[in-house]
Amino acid sequence: MATETLNAPPAPEASAIPSLEELWMPFTANRAYKRAPRLLVAAKDMYYTDAAGRQVLDGTAGLWCVNAGHCRDEITAAIREQAGVMDYAPPFQMGHPLAFELAQHLSQMLPAGIDHVFFGNSGSEAVDTALKIALAYWQAKGQPQRTRLIGRARGYHGVGFGGMSVGGIATNTKQFSAQTLPLVDHLPATHDLAKNAFSRGQPAHGAEFADALEELVAKHGDTIAAVIVEPVAGSTGVLVPPKGYLDRLRAICDKHGILLIFDEVITGFGRLGASFAAEKFGVTPDMMTLAKGLTNAAVPMGAVCLRREIYDAVINASASGIEFFHGYTYSGHPLAAAAGLATLEIYRSERLFERAASLESYWADAVHSLRGRRNVIDCRNIGIVAGIELEARPGAVGARGFETFLKCFELGVMVRSTADTIALSPPLIVEKPQIDRMFETVADALERVE
Ligand SMILES: Cc1ncc(COP(=O)(O)O)c(C=O)c1O
Repeated sequence: MATETLNAPPAPEASAIPSLEELWMPFTANRAYKRAPRLLVAAKDMYYTDAAGRQVLDGTAGLWCVNAGHCRDEITAAIREQAGVMDYAPPFQMGHPLAFELAQHLSQMLPAGIDHVFFGNSGSEAVDTALKIALAYWQAKGQPQRTRLIGRARGYHGVGFGGMSVGGIATNTKQFSAQTLPLVDHLPATHDLAKNAFSRGQPAHGAEFADALEELVAKHGDTIAAVIVEPVAGSTGVLVPPKGYLDRLRAICDKHGILLIFDEVITGFGRLGASFAAEKFGVTPDMMTLAKGLTNAAVPMGAVCLRREIYDAVINASASGIEFFHGYTYSGHPLAAAAGLATLEIYRSERLFERAASLESYWADAVHSLRGRRNVIDCRNIGIVAGIELEARPGAVGARGFETFLKCFELGVMVRSTADTIALSPPLIVEKPQIDRMFETVADALERVE
């Protein structure tokens, strides 16, 4: 497995760098970025090349998505070949073999009982699709009163109106707050710094946070359709579920007939040292949302995976014709399907999920080596994910985290900052010396950032 970049392309001519003005960049401080841009121009295995020709070690697998490392030849070849054979096929009332094949391969990897797949193009679409499937399911089951959706504080489920509404991040809704979905409640976040700081793996305290669902049931009776949670919250700072929490959530959902959705957009495909979080934690939801690692991010794709019973209920509720009024022009796109098949084959043949599991303890040691460093108030880890929480500067939440991210990039390592937590989640092909370099760089940056 090659992990070094031997033939990085030369830095582009200054004239090759385009005008930055016209593009409105997503989730970006546009003005600051355009004053001091960070442009990436190439990638291979564990490294990006920036516009100055510098190699940057990828500590985040892009955006938690390039699990097999960058520009993998097998995936590139599969996309290229499919692009020459059939660029596109309509997914409504038509089909093409690769989408079916990918659904079949995927279903063979899923937890027992989850064996049907609906494709979209992103995590956000997967989440909105899953929420709509939940509502359609309850209609089909003759319980149309089940319309309430439960998310969790500090949850991130993408940016569609559904995902934004069940998500629990105030900054993501405040510009649009009048228009979030009306029938939504939130469980409390599971993060308990006072009791669980510097936990290695799953924290000991907090299973009881799940009991808030009982309170919501007491309030809303049998109107709750589904609960959606990230098994490990990623975007709000790597919040690892307390021991017993997910089991308890599952039990309460079962008791009251509520569907449980795991948003595995980040946790899927080996990130936790198992195929999925469901496997890692031994808790099987009714639906799972996937994206990112599904195609190694080479072509956008998302998926909802669900129990056969849910599929059967919705399909059989309709006497004939279209059973589910939902779908995307690019559902199961041929290039994405080709990339997905090649990606799953790499995961299988290189045993990357097992590889991640075998690195977990080394990774944990590296993460916790930062304990005691300046401003560090917590280190969290699970699988090949880390969160290093820094004390926020008074009146400037997020500033220290962002400056640390910038400093690491300057030092040649890509990390991510979410508020004041530094998150790391490298490709699963990462080598131990590269893990060392990532955490040495974060340590170095922490010394340099006030
Ligand atoms: C858990 C989770 N769900 C959904 C999404 C949204 O995915 P996308 O950006 O592909 O729409 C993300 C993105 O980071 C995510 O982490």
